[in-house]
Amino acid sequence: MAASTITAEERGSFALLGLIYRRHAVRAYKPDLVDEQRLRVLLDAAVHAPTAMHQEPWQFIVIQDRAVLKRLSDRAKSMASTESAHHGNLLKPPGAAGDGIGSPLADPHFNIFYDAGTLVVICARPTNDFVAADCWLAAENFMLAAVADGLGTCCIGFAVAALNTPESKAELGLPADVHAFAPLIVGIPRGDTPPVPRKAPVVVRWIR
Ligand SMILES: Cc1cc2nc3c(=O)[nH]c(=O)nc-3n(C[C@H](O)[C@H](O)[C@H](O)COP(=O)(O)O)c2cc1C
Repeated sequence: MAASTITAEERGSFALLGLIYRRHAVRAYKPDLVDEQRLRVLLDAAVHAPTAMHQEPWQFIVIQDRAVLKRLSDRAKSMASTESAHHGNLLKPPGAAGDGIGSPLADPHFNIFYDAGTLVVICARPTNDFVAADCWLAAENFMLAAVADGLGTCCIGFAVAALNTPESKAELGLPADVHAFAPLIVGIPRGDTPPVPRKAPVVVRWIR
């Protein structure tokens, strides 16, 4: 598969493109907590995402209590054996092959939130077919705004099932009919994160 042919110069030509290419899934954080004002700027960027039928369905839960984060991480890990294999694969580093080999789940100290101090969960009532898309678009806005502020983020899809259990919903104060769609960790990156290479876009047909 051919690699992307967009040059670094082309990427840097717009501020937004620069952010897109600098965003990486950050999995190592400093212990410092991101303060409320910085998070509110990111949340405001999130709610400026496109939204189907202008429904703005998103609701946010911000968790900065490490005991709650550990409980959620432990719950997700204990559910892993009953979840489908592709959920386990969410935790594999890019490029890793083989089932269970090198899985961080084997490490009892492994925290699925990579010890980030903040988890933002984008939730919504699934009132139309596009609510999940709305939430993930808001997630991307949030992550790009975080890059602009020197913060790191990572989607934690592995947490979704655990977040949607009745136990977690009760603990987080999430009504039963509200679904947790997009969990994002955010924090101050510890070191640089190398980019994961991308394939060039596959245009199966260009009709003109
Ligand atoms: C929907 C979704 C779920 C993800 N879930 C996890 C996860 O549970 N754990 C994790 O370490 N990374 C997770 N990631 C991060 C991806 O592994 C990462 O985005 C991908 O390898 C590309 O790397 P990059 O974000 O640095 O470009 C998830 C990403 C997406 C979009």
